[in-house]
Amino acid sequence: ETERTLAIIKPDGVSGNHTNSVKETILNHGFKITEESLIQLDEDRVKRFYAEHSSRSFFPSLVEYMTSGPVLIMVLEKGNAIADWRALIGPTDPLKAKVTHPHSVRAICGLNLQENCVHGSDSPQSASREISFFFKTTSSGYASKHD
Ligand code: CMP
Repeated sequence: ETERTLAIIKPDGVSGNHTNSVKETILNHGFKITEESLIQLDEDRVKRFYAEHSSRSFFPSLVEYMTSGPVLIMVLEKGNAIADWRALIGPTDPLKAKVTHPHSVRAICGLNLQENCVHGSDSPQSASREISFFFKTTSSGYASKHD
């Protein structure tokens, strides 16, 4: 059954010129990119997106990092998209990923635990919340960007 998940190429991924290779990896693994938007996030939007991490010690730093430059937000679609995209990006920490999952996106493109190049929704509930956080679905069934 077709699923949708949210992918983000984070500021380090965009500024490190990883956008094209990450998109190529996505398409080579059978995902369709059905939405795509290059945006500069502001502090308020990052805080709302990562609200579940708001009490963590790394939160202020995460907000600064995610507002440090443009990000590419994408909706990916295929069967089992949520788990398959998480598997493809690998563990949160790129330095660990280099050892345990050397072919994963974070092993190849990520810099460190914070600047880990990409995001992927971790569950169907997160995917649904995160997709509607950035994209709205119109009555025609086509998604369009929020303002
Ligand atoms: P992600 O899992 O996509 O969403 C939460 C982000 O917070 C995570 O990627 C990292 O970018 C960052 N993060 C998670 N854990 C830490 C940590 N311990 N220290 C710094 N940043 C972190």
